[in-house]
Amino acid sequence: MKILVIHGSPRAIRSTTRRLAGFVLEGAADAGAETEMIDLADYRITPCTACEACTLNGICVNDDDLPALVALMNAADALVFDSPVYIDNVTGQMKVFFDRLADAIHYQQFSGKYGCAVATTAESGGDGVVAYLNHVLNYLGVVSVGGISTATGGRSEAVEELEPAARALGKKLADAVRDGYSDPAQEAIIAENRAYFRTIVEENRDLRTEEYERWVRMGWIR
Ligand SMILES: Cc1cc2nc3c(=O)[nH]c(=O)nc-3n(C[C@H](O)[C@H](O)[C@H](O)COP(=O)(O)O)c2cc1C
Repeated sequence: MKILVIHGSPRAIRSTTRRLAGFVLEGAADAGAETEMIDLADYRITPCTACEACTLNGICVNDDDLPALVALMNAADALVFDSPVYIDNVTGQMKVFFDRLADAIHYQQFSGKYGCAVATTAESGGDGVVAYLNHVLNYLGVVSVGGISTATGGRSEAVEELEPAARALGKKLADAVRDGYSDPAQEAIIAENRAYFRTIVEENRDLRTEEYERWVRMGWIR
């Protein structure tokens, strides 16, 4: 069982959010998961220009590090998205990464995985960013087991205070991978999204035959 954290702060090892996500990973590791954290800032990810070339064959015109990251995501059973709050939202690095996942979202390439979300902030916006990160996980077809955030108010100990809750979230994620986890509300959202994306998959049947056939095999197209 492999759990991958995609860390969205450019502050790398000095990052508060990284420390909080680290506790989530420790909880998952104690529950038997193999864990990995990657820093988005280490990856060269070019912003989407809406050229729509990826709709032809799933391959972006930009020759950058996104495919390597997608391969890591594919190899993981669970995905953790973490980001500090930047002007009431995720970091620019995280948003550029999300925009480049549009094709993976349309074809629901990460369906069946589990996930969770982590955020930190100075004062406000943490719950909103956790909700947004979980919303993106659902877009990807991933069921989230929850999220955690803290407003530090500049107190570094604020993160340590959340260690037990963060570890419990990591354990819950590992348990979900091992035993399964159901959330009917999220499953309904994912099913609704899939009904919408089905029209794209059907329209592009001749261009993306492998994806179309995968959707038929999954029972998503009858
Ligand atoms: C560009 C930028 C924008 C920020 N915007 C907000 C904000 O809107 N609200 C807030 O309370 N804190 C804001 N912060 C503070 C960070 O969210 C906070 O320090 C966070 O814990 C940093 O996490 P990190 O160490 O993982 O990067 C901002 C910080 C930066 C650098």
